[in-house]
Amino acid sequence: MAYKVAVVMGSDSDWLTMEQCVLLLREWGIDCDVEIMSAHRTPGRVHEFARQAAENGYGVIIAAAGLAAALAGSIAAATTLPVIGVPVASGPLQGIDALLSTVQMPPGVPVATMGIGPMGARNAACLAAQILGLSDPRVAEKLRVYKKEQVASVEAKNKVLRERLSGE
Ligand code: RP5
Repeated sequence: MAYKVAVVMGSDSDWLTMEQCVLLLREWGIDCDVEIMSAHRTPGRVHEFARQAAENGYGVIIAAAGLAAALAGSIAAATTLPVIGVPVASGPLQGIDALLSTVQMPPGVPVATMGIGPMGARNAACLAAQILGLSDPRVAEKLRVYKKEQVASVEAKNKVLRERLSGE
């Protein structure tokens, strides 16, 4: 059975950050559901979601939130599934608050915390795919192709750089 990924976020205002994550997951053929839920505004839903996540077919949960971000940690507290946290750069501290809230979990309740913002969102998709790729060869193959494309892209940039420098 292929696992799904849940992408949850504290507010609709986090979508600008998380869109890249969902696009990447879809590009790799990974089924994902997206939902807004908040550790502070809808704590009952967060707890219910986390407790049922495994039986609902999810293999990884990606949780994004800004400010005093408690979403990823609250979910990690109530499930044994891997939880990936994305700190969102909302508010006057531009995500530093969310980064520290997400990463500083007590021992026994880990959250795999990404960098702040859209780059972190993309890495969340990569890490989720790497976890699912352990048991899904189709996803593992997509990742191999993605890595090869990264290498080719850097090689192409080096070629342009060398040509530019040799022409100087
Ligand atoms: C956090 O508060 C959300 O994750 C969001 O990043 C931030 C602001 O939320 P809104 O006021 O835009 O709904 O809980």
